[in-house]
Amino acid sequence: MLYPIVRPALFKLDPERAHELTFQQLRFISGTPLEALIRQRLPSRPVTCMGLRFDNALGLAAGLDKNAECIDAFGAMGFGFVEVGTVTPRAQAGNDKPRMFRLVEAEGIINRMGFNNLGVDHLVENVKKARFKGILGINIGKNKDTAVENGKEDYLICMEKVYADAGYIAINISSPNTPGLRTLQYGEALDDLLASVKAKQKELEQRHLKYVPVAVKIAPDLSEEELIQIADSLVRHHIDGVIATNTTLDRSLVSGLKHSSESGGLSGRPVQSRSTAVIKRLAQELNGALPIIGVGGIDSLTAAREKMAAGASLIQIYSGFIYKGPGLIKDIVTHL
Ligand SMILES: Cc1cc2nc3c(=O)[nH]c(=O)nc-3n(C[C@H](O)[C@H](O)[C@H](O)COP(=O)(O)O)c2cc1C
Repeated sequence: MLYPIVRPALFKLDPERAHELTFQQLRFISGTPLEALIRQRLPSRPVTCMGLRFDNALGLAAGLDKNAECIDAFGAMGFGFVEVGTVTPRAQAGNDKPRMFRLVEAEGIINRMGFNNLGVDHLVENVKKARFKGILGINIGKNKDTAVENGKEDYLICMEKVYADAGYIAINISSPNTPGLRTLQYGEALDDLLASVKAKQKELEQRHLKYVPVAVKIAPDLSEEELIQIADSLVRHHIDGVIATNTTLDRSLVSGLKHSSESGGLSGRPVQSRSTAVIKRLAQELNGALPIIGVGGIDSLTAAREKMAAGASLIQIYSGFIYKGPGLIKDIVTHL
């Protein structure tokens, strides 16, 4: 693959600029003979999860393809599933730049993007154009200027709009970069949200004559008691899956490193063990009632195996993909 050659040049650029340039290139080659440059033919390793058949257990985590612009390119690289978004009902600019930082020595990333995206209608248009035959997850959130008390409405609007085109829907209540969002993970706010989401899913199932599973994405920064309460809520509301975890606010593993005091969520290797611990505890608590999609610091086959051993049925990567490139997909899918 080209990535070992391309990476040093990309890493000389500001991270968001590198991202934009890469996406320009991917859009340019997608659907042309040049797509062969990124195509990886990987063995089929089918997994059934949430009632869906995945070609393999490895997916692209949310946040990289926020507007669903490069689904086919990521499919060509060999991901078994691609999660696009987080998307919000209305387009929004996100936080001021710079808002993404590489912590190279730690193979971590800090981001405070703030759900920059072009809105759910735009995302759905892109999804309809994609040829990807794998499972497409659509990750939804709330606009920054929607009060947290009304946040539920934003999730329901997005569910309406994406349902027909989604393989599964991910409810993101764990980004640290939308003020108040993480409060939806607790107590009555969570119960209320999940009850409404479930009712909406039922209504949409009847209207579209298809069942689209709903997964909830949680933070790594939860106490054991909070984790137990969340697990209980997910089971009571018959949620189809849980994605663990999002980025962390904890900086203990990167203190002293360049950029470590930037605000935002930390991902990559520094969140690996915390995320695995959350998966392990969740698996104990859920006891198979619903599957876990494991994400956080997967940067090797070994790390992927650790997530599966902790109780994940599927896994996702973001930061590891930035540091290692498409070769990581091949390593994991071929040998997992
Ligand atoms: C720059 C960046 C943007 C992200 N944006 C989102 C997002 O919009 N929605 C979401 O659910 N997670 C988002 N994430 C979190 C990832 O999906 C993932 O849960 C987290 O980074 C841990 O995985 P990793 O260590 O493989 O990166 C983002 C992560 C990064 C690095």
